[in-house]
Amino acid sequence: MRHHRIAAIPGDGIGKEVVPAALEVLTALAAREGGFSIEATHFDWGSDYYRAHGKMMPDDGLTTLKPFDSILFGAVGDPNLPDDLTLWGLRLKICQGFDQYANIRPTRVLPGLQSPLRDLPPEGFDWLIVRENSEGEYAGHGGRAHRGHPEEIATETSIFTRAGVTRIMRYAFAAAAARPRKLLTVVTKSNAQRHGMVLWDEIAADVAREFPSVTWQKELVDAMAARMVRRPESVDTVVATNLHADILSDLAGALAGSLGVAPTGNVNPERAFPSMFEPIHGSAFDIMGKGIANPIGTFWSAALMLEHLGEAKAAASLIAAIEKVTLEGRTLPADLGGSANTAAVTAAVVAAIEGRNA
Ligand code: NAI
Ligand code: MG
Repeated sequence: MRHHRIAAIPGDGIGKEVVPAALEVLTALAAREGGFSIEATHFDWGSDYYRAHGKMMPDDGLTTLKPFDSILFGAVGDPNLPDDLTLWGLRLKICQGFDQYANIRPTRVLPGLQSPLRDLPPEGFDWLIVRENSEGEYAGHGGRAHRGHPEEIATETSIFTRAGVTRIMRYAFAAAAARPRKLLTVVTKSNAQRHGMVLWDEIAADVAREFPSVTWQKELVDAMAARMVRRPESVDTVVATNLHADILSDLAGALAGSLGVAPTGNVNPERAFPSMFEPIHGSAFDIMGKGIANPIGTFWSAALMLEHLGEAKAAASLIAAIEKVTLEGRTLPADLGGSANTAAVTAAVVAAIEGRNA
């Protein structure tokens, strides 16, 4: 029996609703599939923890998390706390502390769901966005001086290193090589940003030689946004910087039908540290506490986690269960045009896993 120890960090807002839903689904899946078990340990870190302790997570939080096989994360963000405090105090601390430098974001239109794109070809689109997750525009480099004075300045410096760009480029080429179309689009803004982005282009050309099976092309980020809307079927695997991929993947989620279905994994490919899986969305102030959050993005993230843990068959079963529910269309959450709450969607996916009709 393979045993996987998961650290569950729901965080804030609807994170506290969708992570328990995903654990319920994982438990049903392990029971149905056999061969593996999931032991989840719950951590109540986040904004409520901050109000009680003055920090988002304990000082030795990373040491506590290190022995786990994976982390399942919800979201952070609180209406009464600054977003940079909550994000840097918990989620980015884990991403950077555990060197989770590859952020993967698969996007496709699930069966039965409708993309806002008219004239989408019947095969829809099937993308994998690979986001550099350790440096770039979110390196945290910069500062402020003369606060509150008219001459106040703030700098936010992007950091691109040869080591950092090379490792994400290799990850992206390998990911593209493993997909049927073997097509990679390298997104930059190397016309206007003449230093870091030109380094990206140069390294892409170097790494491409290691992957002769992959067809690759360059695209500027603004043109890429337009292409994702106008010719979505022309895109397969995409690699981009921390900021560019952050923006493009929200667009991708929206084009697939809703941000509520979009999954992501923060991966340390060398497995020196646990990787962390989470929905793309945030804590959703407008709907938190109502029990109506769409849990599908977290379920899909749990499937990515299972794949990472070597449970490919269980991951495929979970995706199949999600697809059965979206295709039937009887139990869809509000953001997908239905009226089912989080518990009902969860029950429908559990029923699909167990081979019952909901
Ligand atoms: P958001 O993703 O929380 O919400 C954007 C919109 O999408 C809202 O209208 C929300 O109701 C809807 N939405 C998102 N997820 C949904 C779901 N599962 N089901 C149904 N509807 C859903 O982004 P927003 O409003 O920009 O940020 C709110 C807070 O979340 C902020 O504090 C922000 O910093 C934080 N945030 C945290 C992230 C993380 O922890 N990874 C990612 C993005 C935002
Ligand atoms: Mg984002």
